[in-house]
Amino acid sequence: MITLSTPPTVQEYADLIDRSVPFSLANYGDGEWQCILGRQGANAQGGEYTPELREALVQTLKQPPAAFEGNYLYGTNPGKKLDEEVTGWRVANLACDDNRWVWKETLSAANVNGKLGPLLKALRRRRVMIVGPEHLAYLGERNVIHLNSFVQVPDKNCFTDIDAIIVAIVAEARAKRIKVICFSCGMAAKVMIHRLYQIIGDTTILLDMGACWDPYVGRLSRKGYRKRDVLDRMARNVDDGREQDEIVLDLALGHVAARKRQLNDGPMDARFERAFSTRYMAVREFQPESICEIGVRGGYYAYMMLAAAPHASYYGIDKNLGDWGGKIDFYKHAQVFLGRFEPEIVIADSQELEQLPRYFDLIHIDGDHSYEGCKHDIVLAMRYAAKAIVVDDYHNLKGVKQACDEVAAGLETTRTYVLDDGGWRGAFVFDLREDRL
Ligand SMILES: C[S@@+](CC[C@H](N)C(=O)[O-])C[C@H]1O[C@@H](n2cnc3c(N)ncnc32)[C@H](O)[C@@H]1O
Repeated sequence: MITLSTPPTVQEYADLIDRSVPFSLANYGDGEWQCILGRQGANAQGGEYTPELREALVQTLKQPPAAFEGNYLYGTNPGKKLDEEVTGWRVANLACDDNRWVWKETLSAANVNGKLGPLLKALRRRRVMIVGPEHLAYLGERNVIHLNSFVQVPDKNCFTDIDAIIVAIVAEARAKRIKVICFSCGMAAKVMIHRLYQIIGDTTILLDMGACWDPYVGRLSRKGYRKRDVLDRMARNVDDGREQDEIVLDLALGHVAARKRQLNDGPMDARFERAFSTRYMAVREFQPESICEIGVRGGYYAYMMLAAAPHASYYGIDKNLGDWGGKIDFYKHAQVFLGRFEPEIVIADSQELEQLPRYFDLIHIDGDHSYEGCKHDIVLAMRYAAKAIVVDDYHNLKGVKQACDEVAAGLETTRTYVLDDGGWRGAFVFDLREDRL
C-alpha cells in the first residue's frame, strides 16, 4: 500500500520509481468521462467514443484489479461542466469510490511549469518503455530520456488494436527487462493499464503520461505547450547536467527536425544541425528584443533564433519564390511553425525596399543570394540594425561573400567575423554594438 499527499507530488512519484515500488496511474479526463457517460462523438484529439470503448472503460472502474491494494491509482480532474454528472455516475455505479482517486494533473502541470525534473531523473535511472504514436520515437534522440523500448501505436483510436498492442507490450517488457512503461495513447491507455496491471503490474510501473512528451518532440498539442518559452521550460525538466542553453538548443533542433519530417522537406543531417546551431548561438550572444529576417521560407532559422530569444518580436520579409532555395508558399508553413511567437510576415521583394518599418536589434539576411541582391539587403539592414546583422551562405556562395567583404571593408570600427558551421555554409556577422556606444 502506498501513501501519497493530496494532491500527490512529482517527488513522490519519482521516489516510487527510484525505490522500484510497482504502482499504476491511469488518468480519466474529460474525454474518458464523456465516453463513460455515453456521449456521442470524439474527444479533442479525434478519439471516438464507441460503445466498446465505453464498456471497457466502465470495467476499468467497476472492477479494480484483483491485486488492488492502494497502488493502483485513478487520476481525475473533470471539467466543471461535467462535475455533477460524473459525481452522479460514480455514486450510482461504483461501490467503493473514496480512496482511489488522485488529482490527475500533478505530472502535466509540473511539465508545463518546468518542474518535472525529479520524475525525468528517476526515469533515466530505470529501464523505460514508451507506448505511443510514431512521433514519440524521437524522444531518445534528444536526450530527454533513454528509451529502452518503444511500442508504436496508431495516432488515434488504438483501442481497435488493443489486444495486439498488449501482446507486444508484454513481450517487449519481458525481453528488455522493462521497469517503467509510460503510456501516451489516449483513452485506450486506461484499458491497457488495467489489463496489464494484472499481467505485469506486480513488477512494472505503469504510468499514464498523456501528452506530456509531446512538447519535447515538437508537438505543441496543448495550450500550455504553446507558450513562447516552452523550450526553456522543457529544458528545466530535462535538467541532466548539461547547460540549460545546450538543452534548449538540442530541443529546438528536434523541433526543426520534426517540422522538416512533417513537411517532407529534406534531411536534417549533422550539417544542417551545425548551421542551425550557429544562429541559435548568435542570438544568445546578441540577446535581441526584435529580429527581422529577409528570406523566411519555412521559418527554420527563425525558429532557432526565437528559441534563443523567445520574447523577441519577429518581422519576416519573403518574396515567396521558388529560387535561392525557396519553396512557393512555404512562408505559410512558417506562420504556423512560428505561431507562438506571433510573427509578422510580409510578402515583398526586398530589392524594391528602400526602408524597413522600424529598427531591429538583429537582422538576418537569407533572401536574394546574388551579389547585387545580397549587397542591397546588407546596405538596407545597416540603416536599421541596432546590434547585429547576420548574413547566411558566406562560405558557399561567391556573390554573398563578395557583398559581405565589400561592405565590411568600408567599415573601420565594426567587428566582423564568420560563424563557422564546419565549413559548409558559414554566416557573416556584423557586430554593430560598439558602433552605437
Ligand atoms: C534560402 S531560403 C531562406 C531560408 C530560411 N531563412 C530558412 O530558415 O529556412 C531563401 C528565401 O528567400 C526568399 N527570397 C528570395 N529573393 C527574395 C527577395 N528579393 N526578397 C525577399 N525574399 C526573397 C525566397 O522566397 C526564399 O523563401
